[in-house]
Amino acid sequence: MQLQDSLGRPLRDLRISITDRCNFRCTYCMPRENFGPEHDFLAKEEILSYEEMASVVASLLPLGLAKVRITGGEPLLRRDLPVLIAMLRDLDSELDIALTTNAVLLERHAEALLKSGLNRITVSLDAVETDLFQAITDSKNTPEEIFKGIEKAQQIGLPVKVNCVIKKGVNDSQIVPLTQACIERNITVRFIEFMDVGTTNNWNLDSVMSGDEMRGVLRDHFGPLEPKKSAHPSDVARLWHLPDGSKVGFIESVSKPFCGDCSRARLSAHGSIYTCLFSEKGFDLRGVLRFGAEKEEIATIIREIWTHRENRYSELRTQLKEKRQPVEMSFIGG
Ligand code: GTP
Ligand code: 5AD
Ligand code: SF4
Ligand code: SF4
Repeated sequence: MQLQDSLGRPLRDLRISITDRCNFRCTYCMPRENFGPEHDFLAKEEILSYEEMASVVASLLPLGLAKVRITGGEPLLRRDLPVLIAMLRDLDSELDIALTTNAVLLERHAEALLKSGLNRITVSLDAVETDLFQAITDSKNTPEEIFKGIEKAQQIGLPVKVNCVIKKGVNDSQIVPLTQACIERNITVRFIEFMDVGTTNNWNLDSVMSGDEMRGVLRDHFGPLEPKKSAHPSDVARLWHLPDGSKVGFIESVSKPFCGDCSRARLSAHGSIYTCLFSEKGFDLRGVLRFGAEKEEIATIIREIWTHRENRYSELRTQLKEKRQPVEMSFIGG
């Protein structure tokens, strides 16, 4: 029988963070004050090898795993990523393998990624205006470079989506121009409500622009939006149509939590399993892997963890009183 947690949710989706490093210092994710030169990033031996990651995936396939997303930090900073993708592809020709990237290095790597068996790419892009882009990412890169990477991927036949986190008063001015830029390129853009992940982003409710508010901005510019039925219940994005038929998505985890269908597990770069994006603690699999555990033993451990899973943080957010220390997003991946 398929694995289910205590709320009846299957484990369909594994998100693997393959590095805790990034070439950006987005102010809401890895602010330079906290992630400067003195920050202790993981040492090479602390990070899971590609073989170890592939063992975890192999153990989960018989339990119903259907989708793997490679994240970071910035996954394209890790050497030989196509080697990992080819290993996962060899395990299962039907597995949906996706990559989340900031796309700075995408133009260089797109072809090798496609050849290794990657299905699709999600690019994080929070602004199309250069000054704002550079302020948010705390980098010297430009949106043009990101679009070059996107265009390269599209040319060779790798489907691309764009994710944009909107922080009220910071980049809500980008909703219309980014939507336009994506429509021109035939890309679906998904706008994400700013979440209280990690401990360093000074989150408060006033900095959240709700999906309803974002759709208001789009409606004032493009005309009325029509909701589209979602393809799968565990999809995090709700899609809407603009009057010209193009699609825009919204990931409304603050105003419309979607824990009820959450089938996502996360594997951190240092080899711990987390059953929620907002978990404070994970379960260390690295020790077990390095002790020589077989696929079946790993599966038994994860089965036990998942069976007891009760997480539904986004649904409980406003009721929780005590201060929490959730793990950083750059550590377990979005
Ligand atoms: P598709 O397979 O393309 O539909 O990807 P996805 O929507 O599952 O994944 P993606 O990485 O594009 O997720 C987009 C964003 O949604 C992430 O960067 C997070 O901000 C948010 N998100 C994803 N999963 C979760 C989750 O389990 N809980 C919460 N609260 N937010 C999530
Ligand atoms: N709220 C919402 N999304 C976030 N991301 C990082 N931090 C947050 C946050 N606080 C997103 C990034 C990227 C993905 C990896 O996670 O913008 O799209
Ligand atoms: Fe890097 Fe993505 Fe975090 Fe920005 S949001 S610092 S690109 S991991
Ligand atoms: Fe899943 Fe946790 Fe996100 Fe809810 S808050 S959707 S349980 S990861």
